[in-house]
Parts: sequence; C-alpha cells; structure tokens
Amino acid sequence: MNKDVYAIKLTELSLLLKIVFTLFIVMIGIAYLVSVLNLYLTYHLTDGKPGLSIDDLRRSFYGQRNRSLLAAKIDGGSMEQFLPFPGEKETILSWLQDGVTREGYENIKHIFEGRCVTCHTLDGLMSRRPLTMFEEVEEVTVVDRGEPISLWARVAHVHLMSLAVIFLCLSVIFSFCGVGQKMKAFFMPLPFLALFLDFGARALIKYVPSFVYVMAAAGALMALSMMVLTLGPLYEMWIRGRKVSNEP
Ligand code: HEC
Repeated sequence: MNKDVYAIKLTELSLLLKIVFTLFIVMIGIAYLVSVLNLYLTYHLTDGKPGLSIDDLRRSFYGQRNRSLLAAKIDGGSMEQFLPFPGEKETILSWLQDGVTREGYENIKHIFEGRCVTCHTLDGLMSRRPLTMFEEVEEVTVVDRGEPISLWARVAHVHLMSLAVIFLCLSVIFSFCGVGQKMKAFFMPLPFLALFLDFGARALIKYVPSFVYVMAAAGALMALSMMVLTLGPLYEMWIRGRKVSNEP
C-alpha cells in the first residue's frame, strides 16, 4: 500500500495550522539571521579589518601563538580601535617586551583606566575579563591560544541542545512538502550534520588550525539547509498550495 496516502501534505493543511507553521518558520528565520549578525559583530574585527574572514576565525579559535593575548588584541586586533593616540599602543607593547613588571605597569595603568575599563570592569560590557589592576592585566599577557575550552563548552552545550529541537521541528515540517524522497533524505539531516561539524571543528581548531576551513564549510552548509527548510515549506503552503487548490 502507498504510505503517502496517509502522509500529511502542507498544501492541504487548515488555514490555522498553516499560519502557526508560518509563524514558527518566520520566527526561526529571523533568529537565524540575528545569530549570523551576532557572529559577524563578535568576530569581524578580530584581525583588525572589517568583514568576516578565515583569518578572523583562525585568530579567534586558534589564537596567535607567537604573541600574548594582549598584544594580539591591541596590535592589529579588535582592541586597537580603542587606542587612537599615537604612542599608547607602543607603550603597552614595550611593557610586554620588557617582561610585564609591576613597576612598569604603574607607568601605563592610566592608559587602561582611560581607554579600557569602561568595558573591562565587573559591571561593564566585558565583565568576564576585567582589566582594572595589575593582576588582571597580567592574565592577558599569556600566549594567545584563542577561545578557551571552557567557553567552547558553554556555547556548545546550549547550541547543541536547543538547535537539535529546532532542526527536528523544521525537518518534520519539511517532510510534509510534496518533494521527492531523495531531496528529503538530503536536506532533513543536513542541519544536524552542519551543527556537528561546526562545533566539532571549533573544538579541534585548537589543535589543528586548518579545521577553520571545516568550520567555514559547516557554516555554509547550515545556511543552505536553513534556506531550504524554511523557504521550502513557505512556498509549499502559500504559493504551491494556492496553485493546487485552483486546479480543476
Ligand atoms: C567598548 C567596549 C570595549 C573597550 C573600550 C575595550 N574592550 Fe577589550 N573587549 C571588548 C569585547 C566585547 C571583547 C570580546 C570580543 C573580542 O575579543 O574582540 C574584548 C576582548 C578583549 C581582550 C581579550 C579577552 C579574552 O579573554 O579573550 C583583551 C585582552 C582586551 N579586550 C583588551 C582591551 C584593551 C587593552 C582595551 C583598551 C585599550 C580594551 N580592550 C578596550 C570590549 C571592549
């Protein structure tokens, strides 16, 4: 017996269900676009140049292992913009080269107080990394190893759990589209695979920097699957659905 006889078809859903499915898909689509914007805003200045590039990803997740985190951020990195006056950056860099002494810090602490602590303080934008005293600044003079594994774990567990549920809903809705089984078999598992590759690569970049390419490819696969799993059902419900119902 043809199993499709019992299958739900998006084109034949009640108007109310179509509206609810549409609201869900549109909301997820907006959330996805905002998350892409968030990625862009967080990482695009890592290499000091506008635009999100492979170099931004490599610096963020592998780091620049030939220099300290502080040097990487203020010299060609995302924090350079906060040192607009000539000489300030160089003063901090020479303090780093001279061996990070407490006495030397006394001569440069006015730069941190004037330019950095607005955000790098316990109630500032960057509260997880305060830079208000020698001991705190000393912590960022270690080798730049990119994103710490603790931050990876914090981001990964939330994303994996919540996105698995969202992808399940999106792929079940997509399964009600009138497209071929091969297309369903390709696109329904795709976002799960992309997410697995994304966070897997993000963890492995710390050991093998060329995994940044896998991470970028995972991002592209995610974009493709989100496009198909959201636009496909919308087309099916509101455009193809209308054509089907107009047919004699
Ligand atoms: C407008 C807010 C703001 C100001 C001002 C600011 N920072 Fe930051 N800083 C951030 C944010 C947000 C991040 C995380 C994103 C990034 O690394 O680019 C960050 C990250 C850093 C990091 C990496 C911390 C880590 O644990 O990964 C260092 C080091 C740093 N800033 C140093 C500085 C220094 C030095 C100054 C002053 C010259 C400064 N920042 C000024 C917001 C700011």
